[in-house]
Amino acid sequence: MAAAEPPLQRLGAGRAAEVFAWDEATALKLSRWPDGQPSLETEATALSAARAAGIRVPAPRGFVSHDGRPGLLLERLDGNDLLSIVEKQPWRVWEFGRLTGRLHAELGETPAPAGLRYLRAALRGAIAESSAIPERAFPRVLAVLDALPDGDRLCHGDFHPGNIILTAEGPVIIDFPNAVSGDPAADFARTAILLEAGEVPPDTSPWGRVLVRAGRKLMLLAYRTGYRSAAPVDAETLARWRVVIIAHRLTERVPEERVRLLRMLSRALRAAGA
Ligand SMILES: Nc1ncnc2c1ncn2[C@@H]1O[C@H](COP(=O)(O)OP(=O)(O)O)[C@@H](O)[C@H]1O
Ligand SMILES: [Mg+2]
Repeated sequence: MAAAEPPLQRLGAGRAAEVFAWDEATALKLSRWPDGQPSLETEATALSAARAAGIRVPAPRGFVSHDGRPGLLLERLDGNDLLSIVEKQPWRVWEFGRLTGRLHAELGETPAPAGLRYLRAALRGAIAESSAIPERAFPRVLAVLDALPDGDRLCHGDFHPGNIILTAEGPVIIDFPNAVSGDPAADFARTAILLEAGEVPPDTSPWGRVLVRAGRKLMLLAYRTGYRSAAPVDAETLARWRVVIIAHRLTERVPEERVRLLRMLSRALRAAGA
C-alpha cells in the first residue's frame, strides 16, 4: 500500500483558490471548488499571452487534480505582494502605487489571446441580470455601456497591489482567473474604483481608519500618475467606463461598499453626461 502523501505547505490563499508549494520551483494553485477548471484554464491562457508579450508573470506548467480539486501548476515565486509590504513599510506607498500603475499600463498593451470572454459582453450580462442597480440609473447605465468599444487587449479583471509579487528579479503580476478581452481603460477604471471604494475592515481603530483612508488616497493618486506616465487614458472614455464599472461593482454586492458606490454612481453618471 502506498504511504499517504505528506500535506503540502501553503504559500497563500484567496477567495477562490489556495496556493501550495509543489516542489522547489513549482507552486500549485488549487481551486476551492470542484468546478473551478474553467477559471484555471482562463488563467493559464492569460499567463501564456502575457509571457509572450514580455510581461513578467509566473509561467503556467500544466493542470493537475489534487484531493478531487482542479489545480494549475505555476512557476513558483519568492517574495511578498505589494499590499502586504506597504502595510509594514507605509513610506513606500507612492513608489508602489506608481509601480502598480506603470505595470498595468504595460499589460494593457498586450493583445488578448483567443479563448477569453469579452469584457463588455460579460459586464452587460451581469448588469442586465442584477437587481442591485437603482431603477432610475439602470437604463442610463446600459445606454452608456452600449456606446463603449469592445476592445481587444488583455484585461486582468482584478488588478491591484495585492496581486503583484515583488521578487529579487523584480515585480511579477499574478492572479488572472478573471482575465478578459477588452478596453484597457475599463480595467484601469476597475482598479481605481477598487482602491477608492474598498472599506476599512470593521475592527480597525479610529486612528487606524484615518491612516488606511489616507494611504488609500495616496495609493490611488500614485497609481493614476504611474499609469498615465506610461500610457494615455482618454478622459471621456474613462468617465463612461467609470459608470459601468461602478454599476458592475454594485452587482458584486459587497454590503459595506454599497452606500459609497451609490453616491459614486450618481456622480459618475453626471460626469459622463448620461
Ligand atoms: N506562483 C506563485 N508562487 C508563490 N506564491 C504564489 C504564487 N501565486 C500565488 N501565490 C501566493 O498565493 C496567494 C494567492 O494567489 P492568487 O493567485 O492571488 O489567488 P487568489 O485568487 O486566491 O487571490 C498570493 O497572494 C501569493 O501569496
Ligand atoms: Mg489574489
